[in-house]
Amino acid sequence: MSDSVKLVKNNQELIDLPVLQGTLGPDVIDIRTLNAKAGMFTLDPGFLSTASCESKITFIDGDKGLLYYRGYPIEQLAEHSDYLEVCYLLINGELPTKEQKDQFVDIISHHSMVHEQLTWFFRGFRRDAHPMAMMVGVVGALSAFYQDSLDITNPRHRQIAMDRLIAKVPTIAAMCYRYSIGAPFNFPQNKLSYSENFLHMMFASPCEEYKPNPVIAKALDRIFILHADHEQNASTSTVRLAGSSGANPFACISSGIACLWGPAHGGANEAVLKMLDEIGDESNIEAFIEGVKNRTHRLMGFGHRVYKNMDPRAAIMRTTCYEVLSELGLQDDPKFKLAMKLEEIALQDPYFTERKLYPNVDFYSGIVLSAIGIPVSMFTVIFALARTVGWISHWAEMISDPQQKIGRPRQLYTGSKRRDFVQVDKR
Ligand code: CMC
Repeated sequence: MSDSVKLVKNNQELIDLPVLQGTLGPDVIDIRTLNAKAGMFTLDPGFLSTASCESKITFIDGDKGLLYYRGYPIEQLAEHSDYLEVCYLLINGELPTKEQKDQFVDIISHHSMVHEQLTWFFRGFRRDAHPMAMMVGVVGALSAFYQDSLDITNPRHRQIAMDRLIAKVPTIAAMCYRYSIGAPFNFPQNKLSYSENFLHMMFASPCEEYKPNPVIAKALDRIFILHADHEQNASTSTVRLAGSSGANPFACISSGIACLWGPAHGGANEAVLKMLDEIGDESNIEAFIEGVKNRTHRLMGFGHRVYKNMDPRAAIMRTTCYEVLSELGLQDDPKFKLAMKLEEIALQDPYFTERKLYPNVDFYSGIVLSAIGIPVSMFTVIFALARTVGWISHWAEMISDPQQKIGRPRQLYTGSKRRDFVQVDKR
């Protein structure tokens, strides 16, 4: 017999709630019948104790610092795989055979150009627009251009939309950057790998040959892998909620990008670099840490809702950080040295250790991206680029779930009770 939990009110047993077991992770109490049988809701703002869905894609154990994509530890994927292979894995549930991989890489390379008219969209933005503002708009606009893949009940349409998103988001991301610096857009190059092509679209000049640095391309590919998915985080939940109404995948991904933009989520690596600029010098660290303790500001790049131990992505990113800085001869870069000093101090300070606040992936990814030459305002765009596959995998999983319903949370109403309208001259 499976476990259940009894709900008792005023010593009276109201309902027996089943307890469900996953393949990994804590059991969950299935409260779906609670309102119908007991006339009550649960309250859990911020989803601190609530599983919003069933999923087979990604597993995290925050206490042990584990992250698995479809059962594979992130460390193994970061070491032995590449981003497009990880994309295939996240979407399809299994690693591809050689033939499947070649075919997938071919499809993604051949979908990387965008409709020429889409490039005109950029002219509507001010040059100083934040690239994430452009991303939200332009990715959302894909639904106006690719109307032949919007039938979400058709598996073939869903597949084409997914391929298009993975292929075109890097092109749009690079266009955001090129537009902001007044440089011409670079067409994608099918002979290059996914990360090499992104570097080419970002940094090549049409007047010269561009050869991506393999160490930098590898580091970028690793950043993409580490950010590819992270189960039911805020932006993924946003995509699922948007998609639950039947909205098209391009619109849903645009909603995920909007959510990711916030500094508590994808904006954190940008916030880390701004924080380092603000601190300026090692001599100011102590005062900054005091400010954190007085709650004047947070130590950006530290802490995580789920990881209450080291973020496993942070450990990999830390190594990549050293590799990239050594390749570029930037080991003595003052900002890097400042970051390492801050890390050292915070890791020893009881204020942080007692609250289980350790560096998260964004603490290091910002430093790597900055060293590569990617401007701070593009950091969250890179995150969005990498996370597109996670969002789209969750969206597809949700759409093909026969139990799927529109997401409609309830509330604990604490506003005024019924009252009568008073004319304006009598208020
Ligand atoms: N600096 C200083 N104190 C912090 C920090 C921080 N970065 N994060 C949490 N705390 C403290 C907080 O003040 C609270 O202390 P107390 O118990 O004394 O009131 C305690 O730690 C718990 O904080 P919380 O806000 O309840 O924790 P949360 O799980 O809601 O927040 C978080 C998670 C990521 C929003 C938060 O740690 C944070 O704001 N970090 C900085 C932003 C950041 O780096 N975000 C990137 C997350 S990784 C990328 C991703 O997966 O999206």
